[in-house]
Amino acid sequence: MEIKIQVRNPDAWKAQAVIVPCCENENLVEQYPELDRACPWLAIAPAVCDFRGENGEIEIFYGHPDLQLPRVMAIGLGKRSDFSPGRLREGLAAAARKCVSLKLENCLFPTGCLEKFDGGAPRLLREGIYGFLLGLYEFSLKSEKSGISLKTLELACAERSDQIDQAAKDAEILAWATSLARDLDNLPGNMLYPEQLALRATELALANGVKCEVYDKSRLEELGAGCLLAVGQGSSHPPRLVVLEYAPAGLEKDRPLALVGKGITFDSGGLCLKPAANMAQMKCDMSGAAACLAAIIGAAKMKIRRRLVAILTCAENMPDGGAYRPGDVLTALDGQTVEVINTDAEGRLGLADALAFVCRNFEPEAIVDIATLTGACAVALGNEVAGLFSTDDALAAKIAALGEIGGENFWRMPLWPGYRDSLKSRIADISHTASREGGAITAALFLKNFVSPDIPWSHLDIAGVDWKAKSCALCPEGATGFGARTLLELARQVLA
Ligand code: BES
Ligand code: MN
Ligand code: ZN
Repeated sequence: MEIKIQVRNPDAWKAQAVIVPCCENENLVEQYPELDRACPWLAIAPAVCDFRGENGEIEIFYGHPDLQLPRVMAIGLGKRSDFSPGRLREGLAAAARKCVSLKLENCLFPTGCLEKFDGGAPRLLREGIYGFLLGLYEFSLKSEKSGISLKTLELACAERSDQIDQAAKDAEILAWATSLARDLDNLPGNMLYPEQLALRATELALANGVKCEVYDKSRLEELGAGCLLAVGQGSSHPPRLVVLEYAPAGLEKDRPLALVGKGITFDSGGLCLKPAANMAQMKCDMSGAAACLAAIIGAAKMKIRRRLVAILTCAENMPDGGAYRPGDVLTALDGQTVEVINTDAEGRLGLADALAFVCRNFEPEAIVDIATLTGACAVALGNEVAGLFSTDDALAAKIAALGEIGGENFWRMPLWPGYRDSLKSRIADISHTASREGGAITAALFLKNFVSPDIPWSHLDIAGVDWKAKSCALCPEGATGFGARTLLELARQVLA
């Protein structure tokens, strides 16, 4: 799908459909006098009076099929007082889906109609296009490919402006990033195992001018990444640690922003096997890593001026004669000994090595890790908002604010110091799990142990939001790609 920006008078609008957003109980034709020039038949189209503009409503009005603009697709946004950029994002996602179901090849969006809404035209355009592109997202491994007929979205504007160009470009890369994360997340464990995830990262890095180093089993042994190695040792697919670095010219010596992602390509629970119900969803247990990968490659595509590092902890958690056991004591990369309690708490082990690694090797300006870490987080916050833990208020506030803009919601949770003692081990430096209660918090506290105290750090627990059980306009059933966009936006921000 291609986005074309074109300077066009309404008389010259030519497409199979023109998409127009409209609030509840507002008159479409009066609202947009341009429409009267582009499709004068609209005012007398019999169905127009049935359009209410309710949120989620889509109505199509037809002119004669031979006209250069034979359809008007009206998108209801609900009451004007409830308007938010998110409404537009969803509305245009629904419009994209409608175009696909009608098998249209092109459609037109008049950017001028954004002037009618609060929020600033460039930002609204960004959200609209982002939504439109995600509305087109689909994932299929069927032998017969359906394929989307839609080839172009034309943005018609009264005059050329850099702001419009920039908004469209941003939105395309943001949507690309989210879609990449979704694709990787949706791939099953037999197709995307640690070596494969590392390979995908290597290819993407190479194509986009990002450095990529892959640590295989023997190099992980040299590093002393005892925790990540243990998690992967029951699988026939050995673990990988992927280290990506984006350093624009002149900034090679800057302290980077570091992203660390949990990349468990399949989480069976290991010897502490998970119940069969919903185990298939654990192919998504690498969505943290996918979000980091998508963000750093997206940042390179945007050519942002900021040094970035992304670490992916790739392993498959399987039960086997060689698997790690409850009771095992592991030595992490920084030398801390860790007592394993439950082999299903594997994510934090790989992250422990990666956090220690990134602190030691890169001295980051800030670290953000992202992981489908705990069922407890999903229980606490449900499926629409992710957990955000942070040692730094400014970093946390930035992530939450960016998330809200992009439609990825985060809610701050406490790194409650009173629970630290629950991770005490009798025989090792630290025990890797505590009781069920407060499980998301104790997991975060475990991770905190591997981060240098002087580096601002946030931990994003996306268990619960990485997967949609029910399709919606912005996302079909399956992986959501949650986090890719927020991390990419964060990478563009000045943190200090
Ligand atoms: N990957 C799971 C967490 C998860 C659960 C993600 C549901 C998405 C949906 C993680 O590895 C896990 O199994 N965590 C355990 C930790 C426990 C054993 C301390 C959990 O949450 O039950
Ligand atoms: Mn697990
Ligand atoms: Zn897991």
